[in-house]
Amino acid sequence: MSWGMKNRLSKTIDPKTGRSVMLAVDHGYFQGPTTGLRNLRKAIDPLLPFANCLYITRGMVRNVVDPGTNVPIFLRVSGGPSILQEDLSDEHITVSMEEALRINAVGVGMSMFVGGKHESRSVANLGELVNEAEAYNMPVLAITAVGKDMVRDSRYIGLACRMAAEQGAHIIKTYYCEGFEEVIEAVNGVPVVIAGGKKIEEKAALEMAFNAIKAGAVGVDMGRNIFQSDNPVGMIKAVNAVVHDGRTVDEAFEIYQKKD
Ligand code: R5P
Repeated sequence: MSWGMKNRLSKTIDPKTGRSVMLAVDHGYFQGPTTGLRNLRKAIDPLLPFANCLYITRGMVRNVVDPGTNVPIFLRVSGGPSILQEDLSDEHITVSMEEALRINAVGVGMSMFVGGKHESRSVANLGELVNEAEAYNMPVLAITAVGKDMVRDSRYIGLACRMAAEQGAHIIKTYYCEGFEEVIEAVNGVPVVIAGGKKIEEKAALEMAFNAIKAGAVGVDMGRNIFQSDNPVGMIKAVNAVVHDGRTVDEAFEIYQKKD
């Protein structure tokens, strides 16, 4: 791996712990003003000191993130259909590599839809994005989006993650499932982070992060379970405690409960 690629990856995965808490706030790219993110600046400002990087779209970077920030920007570069569409898999690459470089992004991310109507194109999009990104030592995050009819088990998640790894993704974001060790084994060394998914009880979300780390994930790219919490700052600190500090679920839950 070349210097630039290693340097950019180190802005996402902390070299001291080998782990990452990515803060995902890109939901508006197909959901519009998602609960908790209507006023994006207000939502993210208190959380930024506790994130290894911010996973966000270029439009929102320009509008709400202070260019003087120390938080690295990981850019979503795919999009297309909104939640009004039955089939969400009809995505395209919407942001150029030059734009990612202009924004000084430390990585670019896109969704791939294994099992979706446009599966083939999304896998090809990933391969092409890796081709382009590697010319600039830009890491690519592949997100294994799950279709409405897909069962989130290790067989399906393993298939999607392995396909992402085969296309050359440098990081994979997926959903936690039973038997996650098999998913980790299937990607043969590509770092895996989990998405949080829909909002669940804080303790359950911390347990999911804990189990993912135990199974070999390097961290989380979590959104709703942080910014939709009744104590978002407490929750992101608690997630950090699990991911970076090896704290138990109970210890992390106590951190979440503290309100400064
Ligand atoms: C999908 O909307 C995005 O890729 C999110 O970044 C991803 O799902 C992680 O966010 P959450 O933890 O809310 O699922």
